[in-house]
Amino acid sequence: MAKRTGRVGIVGLGYVGLSTAVSFASRGIATVGIDVDEGKLARIANGEPPFVEKGLPELLGKALRHRRLMVTSDCDALAGAGVVFVTVGTPSADDGSIDLSCIRNATSSVGRMLRRSEGYSLIVVKSTVIPGTADDLVMPVLMSESRRKQADFGLASNPEFLREGHAIEDTMHPDRLVIGVEDKKSERTLVSFYRGFYGRLPKILLTTPVNAELIKYASNSFLATKISFINDIARLCNSIPGADIRVVAEGMGLDKRIAPGFLSAGLGYGGSCFGKDIKALLSFAQSKGVELRIPRAAHETNERQPLLALEVARKHLGDLSGKRIAILGLSFKPGTDDMREAVSVVLINGLLKAGASVVAYDPVAIENARKILGSEVSYSKSAASSIQGADCCILATEWEEFKRLRPKNFAKMNRPFLIDGRRVYDPAVFRGKLEFEAVGLGTESPR
Ligand code: UGA
Repeated sequence: MAKRTGRVGIVGLGYVGLSTAVSFASRGIATVGIDVDEGKLARIANGEPPFVEKGLPELLGKALRHRRLMVTSDCDALAGAGVVFVTVGTPSADDGSIDLSCIRNATSSVGRMLRRSEGYSLIVVKSTVIPGTADDLVMPVLMSESRRKQADFGLASNPEFLREGHAIEDTMHPDRLVIGVEDKKSERTLVSFYRGFYGRLPKILLTTPVNAELIKYASNSFLATKISFINDIARLCNSIPGADIRVVAEGMGLDKRIAPGFLSAGLGYGGSCFGKDIKALLSFAQSKGVELRIPRAAHETNERQPLLALEVARKHLGDLSGKRIAILGLSFKPGTDDMREAVSVVLINGLLKAGASVVAYDPVAIENARKILGSEVSYSKSAASSIQGADCCILATEWEEFKRLRPKNFAKMNRPFLIDGRRVYDPAVFRGKLEFEAVGLGTESPR
């Protein structure tokens, strides 16, 4: 059924664009992917995913073999595509506001392609953009570059809610689709595309572009707030003998109104989205004369959260100068090699500044970590070799292989001392066998 849509285009082949492209292609949709990075295009065309993402190698290989995915830097290849998704990045400018230059460039290229193409196309903005971007920036650029009337093409805001590491699964099985449109033809075109793709449509919220754009920011800010809230309570737990944030979070999550997701206390959130999106939202709100206190507090809480591990290490070891600290996990979360805004970077920089020597291990992110942290850090080939001889080990990212470690795996440390920064270890198993501290875990109850 999807084939009736004809070809679709995706402009911007980051984790959102490429995961979406291979998902579409896997269901028989002829997909054209556009990116300005020729090196990245060559890797993709060769079947090599440019980043770690579950399911991507298989779906990319399949899409190329069946010739359902074609990638190029030439936007003219989009001519005749019924739907064109824009999935380029929206990074932070120096002052924290959103940098829309990639959106402007991508939209201009799409507009020039429309000038040379015939027939109706729907342009769909999937990138995270501040409210008003579709109406006030994308539409005027498309009109002036295409020299076509608004009725000749459509525009929709359709934010994505994909998690890195689960981007394909989330594309295939979304909780909801949010579609912001100003006219019926755009609505019909996108809904019918998704009907072809999904067969049975997921829940759809139809609204205006500004609401769709704001839903994305409000969702990310709320999720970040949930994390910072539980991390704040975790700090309190650390100072109450017998308290344990895992139990507190479980009890809270059993309330349907609260829900259990995003209540895992740890060393804070990282990644390319939450921090950037909160800063963009705060800056946008400020431009409207509105102060958003809760997202700001969530952001500030998160900035200091990784340093909690440093404080705990100091409490046990005193001066950290000359101490050897092992870090388990570098990527901003498991399942990805993405180091953007990873809490491990804040933590390691703090440790280096305090004069400690850092030995780190991550199953996939060392190559990317080296680009950020350089050679001041030693990188190990395994968890066991990073731990050996260390005065303290800090678990920063909860990869599955770390969850299998037991107290005996820490026996070869110079001083067996573990800080569980992601609450993966059972205190009942670890306490008493080595020095053990964890985020949101108070000292053992006196009774
Ligand atoms: C996030 C959102 O979850 C997606 O819905 C959204 O589409 C995406 O940003 C985006 O804007 O593109 P992502 O950044 O991939 O996705 O990562 P998450 O799985 O949300 O995790 C973010 C961070 O929060 C990680 O560092 C994770 O370790 C941390 N986290 C998450 C916690 O510390 N505790 C939790 O309970 C959950």
